[in-house]
Amino acid sequence: MEKFDWSNLGFGYIKTDYNVRSVFRDGKWSNLEISASEYINIHIAATGLHYGQEAFEGLKAYRGQDGKIRVFRWEENAKRLHKTADGILMAPVPEELFREALFKVIDLNEKFVPPYSSGATLYIRPLLFGSGAEVGVKPSSEYTFLMFVTPVGPYFKDGMKPVNMMICRDYDRAAPLGTGNIKVGGNYAASLRAIRQAKENGFGNVLFLDAREKKYIDECGPANFFGIRNNTYITPKSESILPSITNMSLIEIAKGMGMKTERRPVPIAELGEFEEAGACGTAAVISPVGKIVDLENNMIYDYCKGGGPGPVTMKLYKKLIAIQYGDQEDTFNWVTIIK
Ligand SMILES: Cc1ncc(COP(=O)(O)O)c(C=O)c1O
Repeated sequence: MEKFDWSNLGFGYIKTDYNVRSVFRDGKWSNLEISASEYINIHIAATGLHYGQEAFEGLKAYRGQDGKIRVFRWEENAKRLHKTADGILMAPVPEELFREALFKVIDLNEKFVPPYSSGATLYIRPLLFGSGAEVGVKPSSEYTFLMFVTPVGPYFKDGMKPVNMMICRDYDRAAPLGTGNIKVGGNYAASLRAIRQAKENGFGNVLFLDAREKKYIDECGPANFFGIRNNTYITPKSESILPSITNMSLIEIAKGMGMKTERRPVPIAELGEFEEAGACGTAAVISPVGKIVDLENNMIYDYCKGGGPGPVTMKLYKKLIAIQYGDQEDTFNWVTIIK
């Protein structure tokens, strides 16, 4: 077995042994195929390449203190992939095929699931795209579904670090009636210039506003936004936000901790009222937001005046990762033990 420096793993791609694949052709999905290749042989006229018929998901496997491998709310990823497939007229992946691929790809790459003490995890990337040839703009009649894995390091190696966000008015990641609420690759392509602009200005990421009025908070880079005020967890409601499974879970945890929760449009004007703010998603669970800077209006909102994340953010974060790693009882029934 290879020796890995688990605690120094970054957040990039590392080759593992196998991936799994299935093709939808003539109206049905093929049996799952195991592949040791990192490459796909793709038709030059595939709709995934030309017309953006492409979707992906992201979830993680966690090794517990008991040595068991757990996956968090994978059924929600399967559902979201289904919804994304419907949104751009791709053949949806049945939940049972998603499950089979998940269990198989983890089992085949078990040695890449990092040990509990490292804080690292196995990132799982399901991918679905139109692989049939078309030249006119229409949905493909053939689709490829695959799942690969790669070990990733802890997002915050030396404890949680607040991230500063820049409000973006120059670019939108998604249109109000567009594809922002599903996980298609095009949304990420559309976000790249905004992210580059934020980085060039010295920020960790970008805070997108609603595309119609530029008045409400949409997303926080590739993550959902939340603010805390008066024992209330507040997160934006918008037709162009990707429904985050982490956010959905934090809402339940907040309720369980006796907090009120609100999902509603959040105007920028309210940013000054939050005691804490965070960006949530599978990658980091929670990235505490340090400052939100509105360069155009010369405004700075500071949520980490003490230097670190606030107490509610920390409490929510600790509870969620304790469930994911199996350190605390999974009273919500969110975790599946793979083996
Ligand atoms: C645009 C966007 N928003 C939010 C999220 C967070 O979603 P989840 O918590 O399901 O990882 C992600 C990551 O998948 C994302 O890409």
